[in-house]
Amino acid sequence: MNDTNIQDIPAIHSEIARKSKEIGFTMPSDLYIGTLLKTLISSKPAGKFLELGTGIGLSLSWMIDGMDIDSHLITVDNDPELIAIAKQYFGVDKRVNIVCEDGSEWIKKYRGGKFDLIFADAWPGKYSEVDAILDFIKVGGYYVIDDMAVQPNWPEGHDKNVKKLVAYLENRADFNLTKMDWSTGLIIAVRTKQKG
Ligand SMILES: C[S@@+](CC[C@H](N)C(=O)[O-])C[C@H]1O[C@@H](n2cnc3c(N)ncnc32)[C@H](O)[C@@H]1O
Repeated sequence: MNDTNIQDIPAIHSEIARKSKEIGFTMPSDLYIGTLLKTLISSKPAGKFLELGTGIGLSLSWMIDGMDIDSHLITVDNDPELIAIAKQYFGVDKRVNIVCEDGSEWIKKYRGGKFDLIFADAWPGKYSEVDAILDFIKVGGYYVIDDMAVQPNWPEGHDKNVKKLVAYLENRADFNLTKMDWSTGLIIAVRTKQKG
């Protein structure tokens, strides 16, 4: 098996990758997390999905590619320039709600239904408001995070944040999780029951 032979790349992906280079975006999600998100999302027909950290929209393109016609997705980023770009690419898709707001504030205010999958790719929902974000996940729903293996752009001391988060997730009795040394270091957790 050649895991680098990724064949189901979204049609719009190369255009977003070009834009990413043009504006010098330094944090694009890779193809591995992309194809994984698409596959997991495909397992949830009429699903409800959340992305924290829209960025340039690379992972978003994969998530949307995995969604069926009855699915809905919310993606949140606090950078207006990035949100404007995501809206150019995906703004016409009625299934997608692209929100420009601080992730922590958005999480604190959110009163909608629970999600079938959350991809937390920003500080909020990963290193802050983790409890709140995990509460937003349905039984059988996924919590997905990447950048858990040491990355060249980690600020000094970030390894302690990562260790703390991994230990916290490992100790949640209401989630099963798998740690994968693949892509940038992934965790996939699934809610097995409501918090007791
Ligand atoms: C790793 S990048 C996301 C990359 C994205 N998944 C992609 O494929 O392009 C993290 C993103 O989180 C956003 N971000 C950082 N702090 C945030 C906050 N407090 N609230 C919302 N978004 C935030 C940044 O603007 C950045 O776009």
